Formats: sequence, structure tokens, C-alpha cells
Amino acid sequence: MEKELWKPGNMLYPLPVVMVACRENGKNNIVTVAWTGTVCTNPPMLSISLRPERYSYGMIERTGEFTVNLTTKALARACDYCGVKSGRDVDKFADTGLTALEASHVQAPIIGEAPVNLECKVREIIKLGSHDMFLADIAGVHISRELLNEQGKLELSKAEPVVYSHGEYYGLGELLGSFGYSVRKEQKRNGRKK
Ligand SMILES: Cc1cc2nc3c(=O)[nH]c(=O)nc-3n(C[C@H](O)[C@H](O)[C@H](O)COP(=O)(O)O)c2cc1C
Repeated sequence: MEKELWKPGNMLYPLPVVMVACRENGKNNIVTVAWTGTVCTNPPMLSISLRPERYSYGMIERTGEFTVNLTTKALARACDYCGVKSGRDVDKFADTGLTALEASHVQAPIIGEAPVNLECKVREIIKLGSHDMFLADIAGVHISRELLNEQGKLELSKAEPVVYSHGEYYGLGELLGSFGYSVRKEQKRNGRKK
């Protein structure tokens, strides 16, 4: 492939895009975040990066808590809205019709319509530049029962998750394989087990 050399920039796509919810003095807010990632399995940890000028930045900095709510095709429009309007000016729960439910380990609300909610406690705020990274421990996870199969396994694809790629939202494409399928000997070929 012939390549062009571009100046340094963010081009790590696709990414998850999540709705981060927070609460301070009884006021709820939601901020859309694409600069997020899993950073550790044990202890379970994730990060979100926020610009200090976001209204939610101060709320999360002061309370040390937030929830990460996964987005789906049905939530894509609300997710975008929460990423273009500020909690300084609007009530995003009221405007989107999303439901703020009580979490179990943090004061921040979880979004009822999201299929998966992660309760997070901030461990450290790392000043980086345009964005600061909030490193957080995951204190609890809520999973929609309707996504569990008869064996209790989570079938996340049923929720129709959304990804964010270079300014655009997409659903997931076709299933290409599962973890380790490239080396699995008993992999079904032509529909038959070897
Ligand atoms: C798809 C998308 C992804 C975004 N990702 C981030 C992000 O990772 N970090 C950030 O600080 N802002 C991000 N934003 C912008 C904020 O969500 C936006 O400025 C929001 O209005 C801030 O809300 P607040 O002022 O209520 O906190 C994103 C917006 C969109 C639409």
C-alpha cells in the first residue's frame, strides 16, 4: 500500500463511544466520551480523558465518581446530543428522556436504557495537555438480563453496540471469528466439525 506521512495526530479508530454520567449536589449530567479505554484487567480499571472546560470535568474531579454507560444503535442520537450540549445549559437526562437509576457503589447515576453500566471511582487524574486522563477503578458492573443467554453468557452483540470512527458512528459489522479462532483446531469448516 502506498502511504502519505501525516503530522502526529489521533487516528486510532474505531473506538467505543460511551455516555459518562455524573452527579454533584443532586444534579445529574451526561458527557459523551470517545477517549476511553480498558487499562487493566485485575484490578479492573478504565480511563476516560476529558477537557478541563467540560462541565462534567469539575463534577467528576470533585466527587471522584462517574459511571460509564455503553451505547447502542437505539441510543446513538442521545449519545450524540450529550456530546454537543453542555450540562451548564441543559438537563441532558430530561432532554433525551434517558432514565437516571441509582448505582450500587457510587452516587453517580447509571443510565437505565444502556445495556451495560460500569460504576467507577477515580484513582488518579493525570494532566496531559488538551485532555486530562481520569484513571478509575471499576467498582461494579450492571448487565441487562435480556442480554444473557440460557447459560448466563453475555451476548453483547444483541444490544447492537455502536463504535465511533473518525467522526462517524457505526454499528458492528459481521462476526469474523471469536477469541483464538485462528489457532483452534476443531474450528468448524464448511459447517462441519473436523
Ligand atoms: C462522539 C463524541 C465523542 C466525544 N469525546 C470526548 C472525549 O473523549 N473527551 C471530551 O472531553 N469530550 C468529548 N466530546 C465532547 C463532549 O462530549 C462535549 O463537549 C459535551 O458537550 C460536554 O458536556 P458537559 O459540558 O456537560 O460536560 C465528545 C463528543 C462527541 C460527540
